[in-house]
Amino acid sequence: MDYIYPLTLTLHSFWRWVVLFLLVLSLIRFWYKRTAQLTFTPTDRLLKKAAVIAFYIQTIFGLVLYVLSPITHYFLQHFHTAVHLRQIRFFGMEHSSMMVIAAILLTVGSMKSKNADTDDRRFKILLIWFGIGLLIVLSSIPWAFSPLTSRPNFRSF
Ligand code: HEM
Repeated sequence: MDYIYPLTLTLHSFWRWVVLFLLVLSLIRFWYKRTAQLTFTPTDRLLKKAAVIAFYIQTIFGLVLYVLSPITHYFLQHFHTAVHLRQIRFFGMEHSSMMVIAAILLTVGSMKSKNADTDDRRFKILLIWFGIGLLIVLSSIPWAFSPLTSRPNFRSF
């Protein structure tokens, strides 16, 4: 069972690229189609769903990591000390809570877009909610270039 933690960490690291690709692709496509006043097609619906489902899968990997990670164990068991340690607090609190907020924004945006009365409004709702969600995700990823919480861009299996 010792392999579950490193395996999930590698999958969580890799899956971020799938999530980012689908969110960026959705935003570019929705922005273009809204500007060109095109209709909302089944392909757009599929792309919207794919982005949300990919995000949910990443959230599941993240929650498994939260349970298994020695970093979050330390954070929960030594809360008063750990909350002052930047790296530990990032994964114990900031990263996880911001990603839950992003998941809620994508879900609300996706649901609200279903009830929109025009395609223009549907695209606008998705652009706003997915756009804010993407900004939160980008600011909460432990990028390799970050001097505070640097993690590799890719991990090998
Ligand atoms: C509620 C959702 C999430 C939770 C609870 C969560 C939790 C975690 C935890 C606990 C770690 C550190 C694991 C460790 O090193 O022991 C981690 C790392 C990481 N998370 Fe998340 N995460 C979530 C969502 C996301 C999302 C949406 C993304 C990006 C799209 C993401 C990207 C990353 C990356 C890139 C790492 C570093 C992986 C590595 O060390 O290679 N996470 N996450």
